[in-house]
Amino acid sequence: MRPDSRVKFGRSGLEVTPFGFGTAPIGNIFREIDEETSDAMIQEAWNQGVRYYDTAPMYGHGLSELRTGHSLRWKNRDDFVLSSKVGRILKPARKEDIEYAPWTNAGRFTMHFDYSYDGTMRSFEDSLQRLNLERIDICFIHDIDVFTRGDEQPEVFEQAMDGAWKALSKLKEEGLVKAIGVGVNEWEVCHAALERRDFDCFLLAGRYTLLEQDALNKFLPLCEERGAAVVVGGGFNSGILATGAKEGAKYNYAPAPEDIMDRVRKIEAVCADFNVPLPAAALQFVVAHPAVPTFMAGTRTVEQLKQNLDWFSHPIPSEFWGVLKEKGLLREDAPTP
Ligand SMILES: NC(=O)c1ccc[n+]([C@@H]2O[C@H](COP(=O)([O-])OP(=O)(O)OC[C@H]3O[C@@H](n4cnc5c(N)ncnc54)[C@H](OP(=O)(O)O)[C@@H]3O)[C@@H](O)[C@H]2O)c1
Repeated sequence: MRPDSRVKFGRSGLEVTPFGFGTAPIGNIFREIDEETSDAMIQEAWNQGVRYYDTAPMYGHGLSELRTGHSLRWKNRDDFVLSSKVGRILKPARKEDIEYAPWTNAGRFTMHFDYSYDGTMRSFEDSLQRLNLERIDICFIHDIDVFTRGDEQPEVFEQAMDGAWKALSKLKEEGLVKAIGVGVNEWEVCHAALERRDFDCFLLAGRYTLLEQDALNKFLPLCEERGAAVVVGGGFNSGILATGAKEGAKYNYAPAPEDIMDRVRKIEAVCADFNVPLPAAALQFVVAHPAVPTFMAGTRTVEQLKQNLDWFSHPIPSEFWGVLKEKGLLREDAPTP
């Protein structure tokens, strides 16, 4: 598939490119990216036809939205699709008073969770100001999962299904957004949200990848039935599917544990037999699912971005997928390209 082709975004009426641009890295996650590199990556993505960009108030305490807006502001607004998120209010603060981890030298704001109706409206308005754009096309309720909220999750989930859901529904009714959803790191939370409310879409990070496909149990089938679109973020599982099982490889934003390294080594052995780069398989696998219109990889340099774009259309023989399944390295019921 070409990274610049167009795919329907579920039932929303939007069309996205199957290759999306993830902006967590330009929020300076783990280490800094300079202004020039941030802009150069977005311009390179644009020049290669990428027309879907995802950001969030949380990425770099506002920095990612500022940079995304800076780089996209002068493009024709109807030529690209933009998603951002609600659930955190940013308040100005002195740099010394801000707890930044895992971000470095990011925006001069502290972050405060808020999934109420009013908080959601404020978060949305603030995002437009930081982006300096007149609209956001897709809005996700961010981080209402156990991964992020721990023991508070059930309470947070209830608040979001009430206040944030009502606010986003109102914004959609007024035509200010086209699609509303939930952006989290757990498919179970997406499934529960879709059972509760009629969401148009989800951003599922790291939980439907070449390494793990439990989202096939019931979440992805329900999305197909309901016409909900699933954006897969973190499809390299935060690094290991791009770098391979080398020393220091990252899984779930931390050093990869040995069982994951072992599984990746086995997948890499099949890749070597077919002369397929591991990241090419990781990228192309995800968008083969009919409920997944687009994949979003995070990149840190223009070179990484160019490489990912090349990998996206690297030829992969169909027998490759069959062998992964035969060896128990991919679920039998997983759709393949
Ligand atoms: N809850 C949510 O809604 C949520 C959660 C997570 C992600 N997301 C979205 O999904 C996007 C992608 O996720 P992600 O950036 O967190 O993780 P990811 O795409 O799984 O991994 C990104 C990392 O992979 C490495 N990488 C990428 N291309 C590479 C290449 N060509 N060669 C070598 N290494 C390469 C880089 O690691 P190094 O930095 O180490 O070089 C990069 O930072 C985010 O930007 C965000 O938009 C949303």
